[in-house]
Amino acid sequence: MSRSNQSPVTVLGLGMMGTALATAFVRNGNRTTVWNRSANRADALVAQGAVAAPGVREAIAASPVIVACVSTYEVLNGLFADAADELKGKVVVNLTSGTPEDARAAADWAERHGVRYLDGAIMAVPQMIGLPQALIFYAGPQELFAGHEELLKPLAGTGVYLGEDTGVAMVYDLGLLSLLWSSLAGYFHAVALVQSAGVSAEAFTPFAAGWIEHVISPALAQSAREIDSDSFETEVSSLDANRAAIEHLVATSRQLGLDSGLSTSIQTLIERRVAQGFGNHSLASLVEAFKQG
Ligand SMILES: NC(=O)c1ccc[n+]([C@@H]2O[C@H](COP(=O)([O-])OP(=O)(O)OC[C@H]3O[C@@H](n4cnc5c(N)ncnc54)[C@H](OP(=O)(O)O)[C@@H]3O)[C@@H](O)[C@H]2O)c1
Repeated sequence: MSRSNQSPVTVLGLGMMGTALATAFVRNGNRTTVWNRSANRADALVAQGAVAAPGVREAIAASPVIVACVSTYEVLNGLFADAADELKGKVVVNLTSGTPEDARAAADWAERHGVRYLDGAIMAVPQMIGLPQALIFYAGPQELFAGHEELLKPLAGTGVYLGEDTGVAMVYDLGLLSLLWSSLAGYFHAVALVQSAGVSAEAFTPFAAGWIEHVISPALAQSAREIDSDSFETEVSSLDANRAAIEHLVATSRQLGLDSGLSTSIQTLIERRVAQGFGNHSLASLVEAFKQG
C-alpha cells in the first residue's frame, strides 16, 4: 500500500501523548484529522500535514476510526456525551489512562450508543511513540483489534492484544506502574540509606543495577512459577529469614530519621504471613498477604 493510501484517522487530544500519536500517524502517511481543546496545539501538526478540525463533532465525522488520548476518562466521557450521535458506527480506540472500571464503563457506554470500542494502555513516554521499543496493550472485542492492528502499528513497535475484558489493558497498566513505583521507591530509600554513610548515588547505583539484573529479575520468573503452582515452600530465602533481616532495615531507617513507611509496609506483610504459619514460604507467598488487604 502506498503511503497516500493509508487509512484516515482522527486523533482527539493533543497533549504530550496525543501529539506524539498524531505525529506517528502523519509520518506514516495516514490522513490525520486532529482536535484539541486548546486549538493552537494543532499548529505544528498542521504544518506537518495534519488537518485541524474546528470541533469534536467535525473531527469525529472526518474518519471511521477515532484515537482518543486526553487527560482522564471523565474528560473523554464529557466529549463523547456531546457527540454521541456523530460517534454512532465509528470505531474508538481510547488510549487515555484510568482504572479498569473506567474502561469497562466506557465500553458499556459505547455499546449502548452503537460505537465499537477498543481500550488501550500506553506503556511508553511520548518520545518512544513510533519506536520499536514502545509497547501498547489493547483490550476489547478480538475482531475489532484484528481489524485495526495494521492501522495502529505506526504507534508502537509492540501492540499486544490482552483479551475481550475491556478492563484488562488498565489492569496490566496499573500492574506495571505498581512495579515501577515500588521498585523505584525501594531504590530511592536505598540511596537515602547509603548517603547516610557518605556514599553518592552514582557510587551505589552500579550495585543496584547488578542486583536487579542478577537477583530481582530472575526472582520474578521463579516467583511466577511458585504462585501459579501454589507451591511456596523454600529452604533458600524463607519468610522467617526475611522477617529477621527486615527488622534491621526498619531499625536503621528509624535510627537515621528516614521515612520507614515503605519498609514497615513490607514488614507488616511478612509478619502477617509468618503469624499465619507460613514462615517456611518464600517471599512469593506475599501475593497472598496482598489479597488479604
Ligand atoms: N505523557 C506520558 O508519558 C504518558 C504515558 C502513558 C500514558 N499517558 C496517558 O495519556 C493521557 C494523556 O497524557 P498527556 O501526557 O498527553 O497529558 P497532557 O499533556 O496533560 O494532555 C492532556 C490532554 O487532555 C486535554 N484535556 C484536559 N482536560 C480537558 C477538558 N476538560 N476538555 C478537553 N480536553 C481536555 C488537554 O487539552 P488542552 O491542551 O486544551 O489542555 C490535552 O489534550 C493521560 O491519560 C496519560 O495518563 C501519558
